[in-house]
Amino acid sequence: MSTVVGALIEKIFSETCSNRDGELADYIPELAAVAPDSFGICIATVDGYVYEVGDARLPFTIQSISKPFTYALALADRGAEAVGEKIDVEPSGEPFNEISLDPTTERPRNPMINAGAITAASLVAGPDVESRFERIRGTYSRYAGRELTFNEAVYASESHTGHRNRAIGHMLRSFDIITGDPDEAVDLYFRQCSIDVTCRDLSLMAATMANNGVNPVTQDTVLAPVLVERVLSVMSTCGMYDGAGKWLYEVGLPAKSGVGGGIVAVLPGQIGIAIYSPRLDAHGNSVRGVEACRALSTELELHFL
Ligand code: DON
Repeated sequence: MSTVVGALIEKIFSETCSNRDGELADYIPELAAVAPDSFGICIATVDGYVYEVGDARLPFTIQSISKPFTYALALADRGAEAVGEKIDVEPSGEPFNEISLDPTTERPRNPMINAGAITAASLVAGPDVESRFERIRGTYSRYAGRELTFNEAVYASESHTGHRNRAIGHMLRSFDIITGDPDEAVDLYFRQCSIDVTCRDLSLMAATMANNGVNPVTQDTVLAPVLVERVLSVMSTCGMYDGAGKWLYEVGLPAKSGVGGGIVAVLPGQIGIAIYSPRLDAHGNSVRGVEACRALSTELELHFL
């Protein structure tokens, strides 16, 4: 396995490297300041091996890849039934930042779009925003197996320009989906998006999901298996937003992307995959990330669903 996987990611890396399509996210000004052609691929196995190529240890902000991990924390804190009363699990077919609720249920359609993700952040337990954020950062760190840090500059940049997310927060408050202070929930969401990770960290976070919630290196149990199933289900149907159907058809793995340029994918019981390349397509997904995942899925016959 080791030589095969190592050689394969080297091959896919060199075949995908020449693709310079896509643009950096610039609606958060600080995200446009990264080196556009950085590229890393990592695969972590459930027995704790990590294969890496390229810029695998370069930090970037997790952005929307945070959403499944905060949703998992909300499920653990409040229980699946209580969370289900606030957030549905239906694909929306809409862009990630759509200002919308399901017209029948009057709930966010799923926890991967911003309306559902801001709601999930509002459900994380703790006495104040500081300690709730510390629980989020600490939990992500356990998935990664090391202490993750907060990117103040990206947070300040998003906080300064995040009017659309504030509109979503206030919409959620007006429908009583959020019952506390909506600005606090949005602030928590901005903070979780601004945690720095590397491609290697993300592959271990994904491998922890693949390993039924147990970090394959530290052996720390971060999430109960019954909740891992729920999180992977929504990643499958909703993780790639309005590109989710095509993704599942072509790649066939639960996955999540972020506008920082990361993508994670999970093959349950086997591996976590992470790719970093910050040029994005129209859905906000990494162009090379999608291409490299498609190639990995084909070559290793990973198509799971
Ligand atoms: O809500 C936002 O604008 C960001 N902080 C995160 C969005 C994101 O990563 C969407 N994913 N592709």
